[in-house]
Amino acid sequence: MSKTFYITTPIYYVNDAPHIGHAYTTIASDVLARFKRLDGFEVMFLTGTDEHGQKIEKSAAKAGVDIQSFTDKFSETFRSLNKTLNISNDDFIRTTEPRHKKTVQEIWKKLLASGNIYLGSYSGWYAVRDEAFYAESEIVDGKAPTGAEVEWITEPSYFFKLSAWQDKLLKFYDDHPDFIAPTSRRNEVLSFVKGGLHDLSVSRTSFKWGIPIPNDEHHVMYVWLDALFNYYSAIHNEERQHFWPCDLHIVGKDILRFHAIYWPAFLMACNLPLPKRVYAHGWWTNDGEKISKSLGNTIDPVKLIEEFNLDYVRYFLMTEMPFGNDGNYSRSAFINKVNSHLCNNIGNLAQRVLSFINKNCDAKIPTFDLQEVDSKLLESAYSLADKMRVHLDNQEIHLAFEAVINLGSAANEYVDHQAPWSLKKTDPERMNSVLYTLTECLRIIGIALQSIIPDSACKLLDQLNISDREIKNMTKDYALKAGTDLPIPQGIFPRLQN
Ligand code: MSP
Repeated sequence: MSKTFYITTPIYYVNDAPHIGHAYTTIASDVLARFKRLDGFEVMFLTGTDEHGQKIEKSAAKAGVDIQSFTDKFSETFRSLNKTLNISNDDFIRTTEPRHKKTVQEIWKKLLASGNIYLGSYSGWYAVRDEAFYAESEIVDGKAPTGAEVEWITEPSYFFKLSAWQDKLLKFYDDHPDFIAPTSRRNEVLSFVKGGLHDLSVSRTSFKWGIPIPNDEHHVMYVWLDALFNYYSAIHNEERQHFWPCDLHIVGKDILRFHAIYWPAFLMACNLPLPKRVYAHGWWTNDGEKISKSLGNTIDPVKLIEEFNLDYVRYFLMTEMPFGNDGNYSRSAFINKVNSHLCNNIGNLAQRVLSFINKNCDAKIPTFDLQEVDSKLLESAYSLADKMRVHLDNQEIHLAFEAVINLGSAANEYVDHQAPWSLKKTDPERMNSVLYTLTECLRIIGIALQSIIPDSACKLLDQLNISDREIKNMTKDYALKAGTDLPIPQGIFPRLQN
């Protein structure tokens, strides 16, 4: 049996068109999923849409559309965004699907039967935008701490006994220090839980758009209880249950509380094994401003891709800031980053080396007799796979690809220093060895870039005539063979104009 890896994105609310924040979460998960697949894991990569709750009900009413067609339309927009972004998800779940509803209703019955859910009455603050309850102490100037409008609600409600899980959660965090990442976020969660947990209202009676409670037709399920279990309902079948528990939930920092507190508590109450890790990434701003519809500064990923190209967008989003930190989008930063990393570094190296070989080495991988300086560069190329494994297992996406770019820089320095164009006249054999060393570096770089810029990396590997493209192939054992024919090289990374 191969090793398995189960990774998820949050499921997206279908009340609005996707923006750069959604694209970011999904691309990050895609990079990690692709890398694991290339590294020999059996991967299950799940994404989808979160379609119930008051927020969706209100948005559909505002649009004057019936709710099901409203959610159908937006869910389709997210699905098609995945195609546009070249996302390799294995499934796309919608919370309105029967497979999900059925699982969640079973879960409800289990929680009710075990005494984890009881009937009471809720009086308190609720923010529809966040679909979240807030304690009086959290309200700032009449609003939720997130800035969302709150309303006072009083209604009969079923409660989940969250307070009973406080100590068990704290013990779990203690026993599994890697469960919440990055560390700064872990500390926030810990202090929140230590501050005391209240029982959680998990049903609503004042609107209808939700999964009906099996034992009480007046109630629909609280949307977060419904939504979190998507991660379970997608693999709750014979073919996929071996993926449980989930290895990695990628979420934005705004929804960490739901994933790091409610979710493990629900699972403990169901006696189900807990996920291994929840990683909270940061938020994008636009030219320094918070992105919001009311400010009119949302960034449409599709427009960005139409203007530049997909791989440039993927590359920029993944490397502009350390994964976990907040970051800023600006057009000039985008152009500078892409030009300096992809066009001037990797692209230039490939173009120089491959066209030189095409002209001067009969379009074949040259013969070689390596010197120390060559072997040293190659050793660092062969050490790249392990570096990437470590970084990506820690979700240090930016560092994994910084290591690739560093190899490109080292190879560029090497080519300037070795100057094969001068060796052509003085020492053609040495020239061959230098070019061989460089093509071998390009092979490693091409394999390494597949998870972040799949199409461009594929073009690079095609130009090297390589079929072994897995991470395990990034070693000396799979080195290029002298004499292999190479196709006519073509530019892969066109430079962007300011
Ligand atoms: N439906 C819930 C998640 C349920 S998961 C069981 C939800 N949906 S959302 O559509 O509002 O947000 C989805 C993700 O997009 C979140 O992880 C959020 O952090 C992310 N982003 C939304 N705006 C963002 C930025 N400006 N920057 C980065 N990510 C942001 O929450």
